Amino acid sequence: MESLLIINGSPRAPRSNSKRYIELFTQSFTGSYDQLQALNYSKSTVNVDDYSDILLVFPLYADSIPTPLMTFLKIMSQSPKTRQPTIHVLINCGFLEPEQNIIAVEMLQFYAKQFGFSFGSVLMVGSGEAILNTPFSFLVKRRIRKLAASIQTHNPLCQSVTMPLPKSIFLSASTKYWLTMGAKHGQTKETMSTMSIEKE
Ligand SMILES: Cc1cc2nc3c(=O)[nH]c(=O)nc-3n(C[C@H](O)[C@H](O)[C@H](O)COP(=O)(O)O)c2cc1C
Repeated sequence: MESLLIINGSPRAPRSNSKRYIELFTQSFTGSYDQLQALNYSKSTVNVDDYSDILLVFPLYADSIPTPLMTFLKIMSQSPKTRQPTIHVLINCGFLEPEQNIIAVEMLQFYAKQFGFSFGSVLMVGSGEAILNTPFSFLVKRRIRKLAASIQTHNPLCQSVTMPLPKSIFLSASTKYWLTMGAKHGQTKETMSTMSIEKE
């Protein structure tokens, strides 16, 4: 492996969970790498041609890929290239089930096939908003170390991880968490259930 470009595809990249996953990844990855927020890609001088591998780190949004990452993928597909980097994925979603991420990963596999990129390793994180703040964070850290090793050794690996909790417990704990968070910002369950929350 020559060099890795890590893309933070979150719309809230500077204060995102994806940023935290990237920090954990770079603690385990011993090769050379650069980082970029997808939000800033069009203004940057980054040339994907300079990299042998690209790691896309992003959240699941509406069972799909968030807009900043879509924009990055579109520009990357249109730019002239002398070589095609291998694409790797570290995706996290809010729901407990890491399988929620499968459709977004398949979209990226299709993208890679369509535009001639190789496809490498995948890590799908369920309960991605919460898990790093719980005693189960070691489960993610272990998978991230394996992801880093798989990219460095060119041994593609597909992994998933989540909190080992019954759905009912996860649901009641997460509902309580979001209601408390909403109340801190002057929001109720009712106001958070409307589209106007997007304007707050
Ligand atoms: C607009 C929006 C759409 C989302 N859609 C989904 C979804 O379809 N499935 C899911 O499990 N989580 C969904 N989530 C939760 C995010 O994937 C989760 O909060 C993630 O940790 C955010 O990562 P980030 O901080 O890196 O952006 C959504 C969050 C937002 C704000």
